[in-house]
Amino acid sequence: MSAGVQNAGSSAVGSSDTEAAVAFVAHSTDQTVALGRRLGELLEPGDVLVLTGDLGAGKTQLTKGIAAGMGVADDVCSPTFTIGMVYEGARMPLYHYDLYRLDDSSQLDDTGIFDVLGDDGPCVIEWGEQFADELGDERLDVVLSRLDDESVAGEEPARRVAFYPHGVRPEQIASRMAV
Ligand SMILES: Nc1ncnc2c1ncn2[C@@H]1O[C@H](COP(=O)(O)OP(=O)(O)OP(=O)(O)O)[C@@H](O)[C@H]1O
Ligand SMILES: [Mg+2]
Repeated sequence: MSAGVQNAGSSAVGSSDTEAAVAFVAHSTDQTVALGRRLGELLEPGDVLVLTGDLGAGKTQLTKGIAAGMGVADDVCSPTFTIGMVYEGARMPLYHYDLYRLDDSSQLDDTGIFDVLGDDGPCVIEWGEQFADELGDERLDVVLSRLDDESVAGEEPARRVAFYPHGVRPEQIASRMAV
């Protein structure tokens, strides 16, 4: 069910969605970025976001929007090979990780992620769900999926972007996204 249009341009999914606190349908890359921008405007130091979704689901595009919402001027790309990147925002840094290439939690130490979790800026982690336990109890899980069933032949399908908060602060972020 789609109910109304949020100011990100994405349709909010209504009360038929029983699991996620709030979910959106982004019909284009621009809408994914716009949703991220709204999210980025809400973030505070120490917030942890785990972005989950298949290859090409839109995690980096959402992060580009988050960065824009935080006033980051640099171009954000997937840190698949560097694993971690830091961007200077207007109010605080954005820590961006991509854990795709890691296959064991013992490798996390070397990435430096434990130094930035809970530090002076939010941390956005692509492919982090496999290490969710190590990333802390207070987490906003953001699940992106391709809506293949609703796609037009030859066109990229829209994406569902669903928020699953764990903890008080993540719940606050999700509820602010819902208004
Ligand atoms: N809502 C959308 N509708 C259509 N295309 C989209 C949407 N959101 C993102 N895309 C497109 O999906 C492609 C992949 O996006 P992106 O690189 O952000 O994915 P990713 O999840 O970070 O992938 P990876 O797992 O490889 O890091 C891009 O070409 C982007 O433009
Ligand atoms: Mg990516």
